[in-house]
Amino acid sequence: MDFHLEFVQLYLHSPDPEMVIPAFIAFTFRLLAAAHLLTFITSYVTVSQGAQEIFKLLPHTFVDAEKLPELSAGKSLPPHHQSTRRAFQLYGCVVTSKDMVAPKDPSRCFDKADYYAHPEHYRPVFHERIAPYASAIVNCMYWERRFPRLLSIDQLQQLMKNGCPLVGISDITCDIGGSIEFVNKSTSIERPFFRYDTSTNLYHDDMEGDGVICLAVDILPTEFSREASQHFGDILSRFVTSLASAKGLLELPSHLRRACIAYTGKLTPLYEYIPRMRKTMIELPPTPANSLPDK
Ligand SMILES: *[C@@H]1O[C@H](CO)[C@@H](O)[C@H](O)[C@H]1NC(C)=O
Repeated sequence: MDFHLEFVQLYLHSPDPEMVIPAFIAFTFRLLAAAHLLTFITSYVTVSQGAQEIFKLLPHTFVDAEKLPELSAGKSLPPHHQSTRRAFQLYGCVVTSKDMVAPKDPSRCFDKADYYAHPEHYRPVFHERIAPYASAIVNCMYWERRFPRLLSIDQLQQLMKNGCPLVGISDITCDIGGSIEFVNKSTSIERPFFRYDTSTNLYHDDMEGDGVICLAVDILPTEFSREASQHFGDILSRFVTSLASAKGLLELPSHLRRACIAYTGKLTPLYEYIPRMRKTMIELPPTPANSLPDK
């Protein structure tokens, strides 16, 4: 049996595992239909865990980003090697910022704190190190304009021209013109996907032709399932008493304290990044759209 290797990636920075699951299942099965085998990549936050939960129901192996080229090359292993592997196998890979950017100065090492402070000292590498091997990307990364994009239109067009196996992107973040540049609109729950044909630069509402399909539902939390609602309700009810009796923020159990965005008219420390993010949105000019090659 031919050994396919495909990748789904998850980049996660979002509040609830539950909200991603219905969309992820739909997306996963759509991809399975298209790709037979799939692999996925995720970062470490909660939505990621929710999506991974579903992924883990399938025969799977998690691999490190460094192993992707090797795995991909394994496609051409002679048949007797393949017979030792499961015939149907998906690969998942957790991708974090160290796999998305590299210091411009090659003598330096990636340092997350430095990257957040000086994104201009880093260049994007996701399109070189990860995307060429990916069959699907689930994007939940936190992004601001000061950071390089995960995937620009130019990079995507180039990748697809070079035979990248990418089938689709589930853009949970749904930042329009953000980390995934070609996502220029959100989609509805009724029609969750659009198709972007990289060779013609045209957007379509169906999923049946060339290009990359994309899930860009920005109101996924409204797909709140009944089970999830019950589950959250059960958990929350344990906190109601302390919530009702606490006289100040510090008296709240830590789960609730961390969920408190504003208190006495001020943002709480965890959420002080919001005005900073807004400020950069206003001060930085929009990252120019990549010029498109002549057709
Ligand atoms: C997205 O981009 C395509 C191609 O440039 C354009 O035809 C379409 O109108 C854009 N959609 C939105 C909502 O801007």
